[in-house]
Amino acid sequence: MKRAIVVGATSGIGRERAVVLAQDGYSLGLIGRRPHLLKELKESLSTPVLTQQIDVADHDKAMDLSAGLIEQMGGVELVVISAGSASSTRPELVRGESGH
Ligand SMILES: NC(=O)c1ccc[n+]([C@@H]2O[C@H](COP(=O)([O-])OP(=O)(O)OC[C@H]3O[C@@H](n4cnc5c(N)ncnc54)[C@H](OP(=O)(O)O)[C@@H]3O)[C@@H](O)[C@H]2O)c1
Repeated sequence: MKRAIVVGATSGIGRERAVVLAQDGYSLGLIGRRPHLLKELKESLSTPVLTQQIDVADHDKAMDLSAGLIEQMGGVELVVISAGSASSTRPELVRGESGH
């Protein structure tokens, strides 16, 4: 079975990619900051899934936890990195309240 990690799997593009990868027969390692959403996604998928709560902004800890997840999975063939936020959709910028 092919193995993939999705960073930013709790919503948006990462979540949708995780669903497609599961349908394509990948086992998954799902990463995000919100454990209840990781759990919810895991329970909705019919493929082996490990989850790991990681804040990628905490670089050193994120590297350690990611390495641990990869080790638990016995390696991975694919890493999808979709963690981030779209500044263009930040409400304060849309409303022109950024002060710039
Ligand atoms: N949607 C678009 O049309 C589009 C187009 C071009 C580029 N992008 C870019 O693609 C990326 C994803 O977009 P999206 O629409 O899927 O956004 P989204 O729905 O807000 O999803 C962002 C994902 O990133 C995770 N995340 C954010 N900060 C994190 C952190 N510090 N550590 C770990 N996980 C983190 C979130 O999980 P947690 O909150 O649980 O941590 C969530 O799963 C963004 O960088 C966006 O700018 C999006």
